[in-house]
Amino acid sequence: MEHPLTQAFPSCLFPDNLTLIPGLREVYELHLAWLEAETLTGAALVEQAAYFCAVDGRPTRHFLTCVGETLKLPDFSSARLKSFFKTNSFRTGYATHGLFPYRGKFHPQMVRGILNVIGVGPGKTVLDPMMGSGTVLIEAALLGADAVGVDISPFCAFMTETKASGLTMSLERSEGALANVETTFDYFARRYGVALPVPARQSAAADDLRQVMEEGADYVVSGRRFRERGTAETYALLLLAFLDTMGYTQRSQRKPPLEQFRGILERYLHCCRKFQRVHNAQGFDLGQVDARQGDARRLDLAEASVDAVLFSPPYSFAIDYAENDAFHLTALGVDRANLDDSMIGLRGGSRLADKYACYLDDMGQVLRECHRVLRNGCHCVIVVGTNSNQLSKVLKQPADQVTGLHKVLRDVAESVGFSFSAEIPRAIKGIANTMREEYIVFLKKK
Ligand SMILES: C[S@@+](CC[C@H](N)C(=O)[O-])C[C@H]1O[C@@H](n2cnc3c(N)ncnc32)[C@H](O)[C@@H]1O
Repeated sequence: MEHPLTQAFPSCLFPDNLTLIPGLREVYELHLAWLEAETLTGAALVEQAAYFCAVDGRPTRHFLTCVGETLKLPDFSSARLKSFFKTNSFRTGYATHGLFPYRGKFHPQMVRGILNVIGVGPGKTVLDPMMGSGTVLIEAALLGADAVGVDISPFCAFMTETKASGLTMSLERSEGALANVETTFDYFARRYGVALPVPARQSAAADDLRQVMEEGADYVVSGRRFRERGTAETYALLLLAFLDTMGYTQRSQRKPPLEQFRGILERYLHCCRKFQRVHNAQGFDLGQVDARQGDARRLDLAEASVDAVLFSPPYSFAIDYAENDAFHLTALGVDRANLDDSMIGLRGGSRLADKYACYLDDMGQVLRECHRVLRNGCHCVIVVGTNSNQLSKVLKQPADQVTGLHKVLRDVAESVGFSFSAEIPRAIKGIANTMREEYIVFLKKK
């Protein structure tokens, strides 16, 4: 028998006909890859797999979607950012996932792997009750599954809808807006009271563009979404790029806003164009995306109407999403006061212990709703960090002795009727992160 040393690791874990995506080195990735190899067969492996680049030498759809220059970063981007996207080209940044850097968003490739393991594909419907930037919905659409997403923040519904339309929308008018980038920026800057860096050019093209913007604003911001699809989609994409720009300029003054906007819009169009090229060449069906503003504690969905649930909750010491997105919410005409009252993690007063009690109660309601809308025998998956450092402050226990939040939420889920199936640990890297480990917790409705 061959000595084990002569076998390539980790390829020896998988059948010969499967080629792993390059650069897979985390244990949780290999675990999900192994689960994919066990659950998907034949054409489904080629069309759906997240962790293989070829099956019997045939390139997978995920590989084709990611390969090449995924993110066109502006020349002035830091070497660190460029290297991050190069190493992570199969994990993140493909399709329209790279539009808008929403804090705390999922790794798209991991979401794809999880959806595969819990049987989400064409003909199925998945729910993310706290969708944030819509990673689950976009990934489900790429797999040909339908998806419903809910988030208390109207900005999240707007962002997700825009990322979904970027998969198929006509890009011609947005290209025109990029060719007249000063006029486009000037329009938004005036509308949202931002200091103007340059006087806008006067030309027939600029006048036309202003007209499109006025109509688009009317449809998108006043809530009459998608009456005239092309205009509204174009406007939404440009507005998202503008809001992204304002986020950057609030954090860093390194580049003038107009230059940032140009770079961001170029990148958005590059991502959309690149995905659309692969999509047209491959000719596969995308699932429907239904992104809604709403409260996960009271879902407007019928009992037993979805085939899977996947989400990551905020923490009781949440990123203050309302504060973080204040500019964006105001731009969309949202009253923040109402939002703070229903945002899980911000509610419950100023005492940590009260906030935590309120958080657990809220998460109990969310999980009860997930259980109600899920079909029997289907999975609900929560991706959540241990949060031990912060929990140790609430519970006044040493961090290494507190029960991690993943376990606490698992207990809450069991108390509302779920049974526990499995969990996969995943290391969190980076000095800025307060947590070292998160878990993919698989629950089942009996
Ligand atoms: C960790 S983020 C989700 C990020 C998401 N997985 C992604 O890929 O972008 C948690 C989300 O929960 C939302 N949220 C907070 N309270 C909520 C509520 N009552 N109902 C629905 N969503 C809520 C926040 O607005 C935030 O977008």
